[in-house]
Amino acid sequence: MIHTSKRPTPRCFYIITLSLFMSSLYITLSFGGLLPSIFVTTSKVYEEIYDADTLDFLIIGDWGNAGVGKDLKHGPQANVSKAMEYVANKHDSKFIVNVGDNFYKRSAKDYQGILSVNDSKWEEIWLKVYNSTNLRRLTWYSIAGNHDWYTNVTAQIDYSLTVNSRFFFPSLFYVRSTLFGKDLKLKAIWIHIDTNIFYYDVDSIVEIKMEGLKSNLLNFGMHTQQAVEEKFKWIEQSLIDNQDADYIFVIGHHPLIGICSQVNHMPRLLELLKVYYVSAYFSGHNHVLEYKAPTKASPVAFFISGAGCKTGFGCDGKDWGMPRGAYGL
Ligand SMILES: *[C@@H]1O[C@H](CO)[C@@H](O)[C@H](O)[C@H]1NC(C)=O
Ligand SMILES: *[C@@H]1O[C@H](CO)[C@@H](O)[C@H](O)[C@H]1NC(C)=O
Ligand SMILES: *[C@@H]1O[C@H](CO)[C@@H](O)[C@H](O)[C@H]1NC(C)=O
Ligand SMILES: *[C@@H]1O[C@H](CO)[C@@H](O)[C@H](O)[C@H]1NC(C)=O
Repeated sequence: MIHTSKRPTPRCFYIITLSLFMSSLYITLSFGGLLPSIFVTTSKVYEEIYDADTLDFLIIGDWGNAGVGKDLKHGPQANVSKAMEYVANKHDSKFIVNVGDNFYKRSAKDYQGILSVNDSKWEEIWLKVYNSTNLRRLTWYSIAGNHDWYTNVTAQIDYSLTVNSRFFFPSLFYVRSTLFGKDLKLKAIWIHIDTNIFYYDVDSIVEIKMEGLKSNLLNFGMHTQQAVEEKFKWIEQSLIDNQDADYIFVIGHHPLIGICSQVNHMPRLLELLKVYYVSAYFSGHNHVLEYKAPTKASPVAFFISGAGCKTGFGCDGKDWGMPRGAYGL
């Protein structure tokens, strides 16, 4: 469990690991109409109120696959789901922060991501898998990872807006505000962003390895310097607008730990988070559970929670992490 203290005074994170079916990483903040175009970034803030002293939430990433050679009951995805149920029940978790790579291939012949709002993956590797007593009441605040871009990322947004808003994904970039604590005096701001356009140099993507990522980014005009500048400007404005918050969290798919923070435009994102005193940045992409603590030079705590159904390598730069091979949230 990780407790975060309020910004801008010292923020230390206390980490206790929890061994269950697998390892878990979760967080408690303690006292202390129309289908919008997905390119458009708005200044709308989605507001939530939690009548609770603490705001407990789960973070999961890179989850949508039963696991190689494993079935949906006993594979890593299902086991992580059981751990989530345990934690959500024990700590009365309020929602799930989904850091992207929502749908993988189910088999070698399958496709990445989803194709439409009616894709069978919605039921098979989302609704059915996380359908235990406590999990099925929680909203997933979602973003897209590269695997979601490989096919139809618009369909994921469309699903959220027209089929099931429990998969909360109204656009590629959005801001939420959560009030909680005594007399609802604590405010946490959540800035959900799409880091694909910062992480990838579209021109150098070899299409065959990245499936549709390149063509989709090109089709959406996300590859241009102008698009990149607009998104950075929107992020910066959102940070400026919310400096009164007790906590500011930014959520993007690609990590900002170690070497991962040095890729393409990622250093600019890192700099913005530091300048505006962001409490923490949550990511996935690398299939590990890792943490990098705030320092004097950087007030931001960095998390990677990308072990929802796969395990892999980290970013060389963590202060703490679960051993390689651990699944979890
Ligand atoms: C999932 O949990 C079951 C039962 O606890 C265990 O037998 C199985 O090996 C686990 N699967 C993975 C991939 O760890
Ligand atoms: C999805 O299914 C609904 C109900 O069967 C149907 O009306 C709709 O056209 C389908 N949409 C797509 C994109 O397949
Ligand atoms: C989820 O669980 C409920 C209650 O057991 C059940 O009615 C529903 O059909 C399940 N949904 C899915 C998609 O499996
Ligand atoms: C992708 O999804 C959108 C939104 O549901 C839909 O309108 C569009 O036809 C889909 N594209 C393809 C190529 O299937």
